[in-house]
Parts: sequence; structure tokens; C-alpha cells
Amino acid sequence: MKIIGGSSSEALATKVAHGLGTESAKLEIKKFPDGEKYLRVLEDVKREDVIVIQSISRTPDEFLFEYLLLVDTLKDLGAKRVVSFIPYFAYARQDERFNPGEALSFKTVSKLIEDIGTDEIYTIDMHQHRVLRSSDAFKIPSRNLSAMPLLADYVEKTGNLRKPLVIGPDTEAEQWARLAAERLRTDYDVFEKKRLGSENVQIRPKKANARDRDVLIVDDIISTGGTIVEALKILFSQGAKKIDVACTHPLLISGALAKIYEAGAQNVIGTDTVQSPVSYVSVAPLIVDQIKKEGFR
Ligand code: R5P
Repeated sequence: MKIIGGSSSEALATKVAHGLGTESAKLEIKKFPDGEKYLRVLEDVKREDVIVIQSISRTPDEFLFEYLLLVDTLKDLGAKRVVSFIPYFAYARQDERFNPGEALSFKTVSKLIEDIGTDEIYTIDMHQHRVLRSSDAFKIPSRNLSAMPLLADYVEKTGNLRKPLVIGPDTEAEQWARLAAERLRTDYDVFEKKRLGSENVQIRPKKANARDRDVLIVDDIISTGGTIVEALKILFSQGAKKIDVACTHPLLISGALAKIYEAGAQNVIGTDTVQSPVSYVSVAPLIVDQIKKEGFR
């Protein structure tokens, strides 16, 4: 078995390989002066099971294309099976035609990934709002793992919050709030969210009362930070004592981190599905466990 990280997840792939007592396989990736990508697999992958790790993040089109080049090359070089871990799966939010004529980006990306020859796919806390099961999103064997228990363990270890109320900032975040709350042996609730524009959301509490409580807000993605800032405002106005924030995918664009701290969060914690200044929790153990469980060798 070979472990290969694309350039968006090189460090993560190295950690995974070390967790399995091996080294990750090497690639040469560079750009031609005109911007085209060059990719070369530097190991013999013939008849091997290959684990590819590549988040489609930050510059999603670039990393998606690199993924396609990589998997096609591996198959062409005789790899027996390509099992992919796509820790951050971009385009999952555009899983519906919200306005007439829009591209169903999620469907297109899934199709490309399947058609290029991926044999199995694992995602981590993929944005599943309307498509609720991986098996509805992909025709190949697939599984969506969650980093929430790892994030909850980290929060517990910091000891900053006392029996926190776990809040998901929208109804779809219930899946993550529940997992984090179970791990922390505490209670959870969700907010109802209305999107007013690409950077503006209005959030109303469902039934949570944060008065005199420490709170942990959890979500899959922090992008502009708008969702979390609104949740912080509401929770503080309800009388929350201390609030920490945890997310799986810290995209943190448009000064999101500063906005969240300004709004009063004490700690922001993310994972390394997307590298960021708050990627304190690695998803490597999650991937290692899965590889061991499936018996890939
Ligand atoms: C959306 O429904 C997601 O679960 C996140 O809440 C959202 O992507 C966060 O975006 P932003 O940080 O821009 O509010």
C-alpha cells in the first residue's frame, strides 16, 4: 500500500503515513510558466493499493484538477485500487439549483472524481445539508467520517469550558452538535438560520438558553465567520458566560478569525483538513484508524 498526499494535504499525508509506520510516497508537482500543472509520480505503484489524500480547499479548482491528474496517472501506471480521502470536499454547498440555470457543482465534482477512476472515497464532515448520505452523493463506495469527537476531546483537554452547552448554528449542524455533546457528556441545541446574502445571515435560537452557561459552538465550516459571529451575539445576549468555537474546516476567509475573536469567542479550534492558524487538531488519527479498520495494505 502507498500513501500519497496531493499538494493541499502533503503534511497530513505524512502524518498518516507515520501513524501507519511508513513514509508517504513522493510526487513532483510544479507549474509551467503558463500556469499549467505538471505532475509526476516518483514511485512504482503497479499492482498497489494507493491511498490518496487531497483536500479540495483554498484554491479548489487547482486542487481538484491536481487530484484528477494524480488519480488518472496512478491508474495509468497500474495501481490496483485508488482509495481517496478528501478531507475537505469543496463545492458540496452547491448541491441544489437555488436559482434557475445554476450549475449543480456538487454533482459535477462528484462525477469527475468517480469517472477518473477513484475506487472508494472517504470525506470528513462533508457539508451534507440536502444530500444526507454519502451513498446518495456517490456511486462508488463512500463514507463520511466525523472529526467532532476529536475536536471535543481537544476542547475537554484545554479545560476552558465547564459542562458546556453545545450549539450548532443552524438546524443542519445538529449532526455535529450531537456528536460533540455526546463526547463531552453534555447537552446540545441548534439555532435556526436565515441567509440574507453571501456574507449575511440572521440566526434565531430554537429553544436553547445559554444564560450562565459556558458554550461550545460547533460547525462543519467557518468561511467568512458570519454564521459564528451571529451565533456569538445571540448567545452573549442570552447571558452566556464563556464561548469557544470549534469547526472541522477552518477556511477562515475575509478576516473571519479576527471577527470571531472581536465578537467575544475565547478560543477557536479547527482541524488540519484545511491548514490554518487554528488547526490544532489533526484528522490523521481518524484516517489512520479507518485505513486499519478497512484492512488496506
Ligand atoms: C453552512 O450552512 C455551513 O454549515 C456553515 O455554517 C457556513 O458555511 C459558514 O459560512 P460563514 O462562515 O461564511 O458564515
